[in-house]
Amino acid sequence: MMLHVPGVLSAEQVREMRAALDAADWVDGRETVGPQGAQVKHNRQLPELSPVGRELGKTVLAALSKNPLFFSAALPLRFVPPLFNRYEGGENYGLHIDGSVRSVPFTNAQLRTDLSCTLFLCEPEEYDGGDLEVVDTYGTHEVKLPAGDLILYPSSSLHRVHPVTRGARISSFFWLQSMVRDDQRRSMLFDLDQAIQKLRARLGDAEETVALTGHYHNLLRMWSEV
Ligand code: NI
Repeated sequence: MMLHVPGVLSAEQVREMRAALDAADWVDGRETVGPQGAQVKHNRQLPELSPVGRELGKTVLAALSKNPLFFSAALPLRFVPPLFNRYEGGENYGLHIDGSVRSVPFTNAQLRTDLSCTLFLCEPEEYDGGDLEVVDTYGTHEVKLPAGDLILYPSSSLHRVHPVTRGARISSFFWLQSMVRDDQRRSMLFDLDQAIQKLRARLGDAEETVALTGHYHNLLRMWSEV
């Protein structure tokens, strides 16, 4: 499932983040990929251990922790701390699949990448090109979102970032391991949860909404790994 999560960051948060990123030192994006990725990745990013990046990453994760739509869709168990990248002057990232297991910096932990996230930090009119193209079983999707919005997609998807031919495309990107590994099960839980929220808004805590909420939690209990 791909999901657009609007308004993860406020306009003010985006402005502050952009100012900090404009003043930061960027390095070659090939630092954080394996040999296949290194052949097709042409961009820059903040170093993985950069103090600026770590602080900004905490802001991103704090914003996500208050976002019920994101939680419902991702059911996050743990995150790789957000990274930040920048494409300009024709830079692009060719077709690839993200690595399946990643180490979490400053810990001994590793996580399985179930979901990939891109949080856009530039408005679409600030640059040409730079669309994120994701290929899934339902076809090819081109994504270019307003600043502060996020796209969530299965890490098992082939994807690329088209060349940026004018201006700069700045974004945050990261991965998470979900409590529910299987994309189809996670999607079914999301659909059920969204339907329950709508029913609750209409009917309140009627006997049926309480029963469906119980059913949701029993499915989550059956399918989650925590
Ligand atoms: Ni990728």
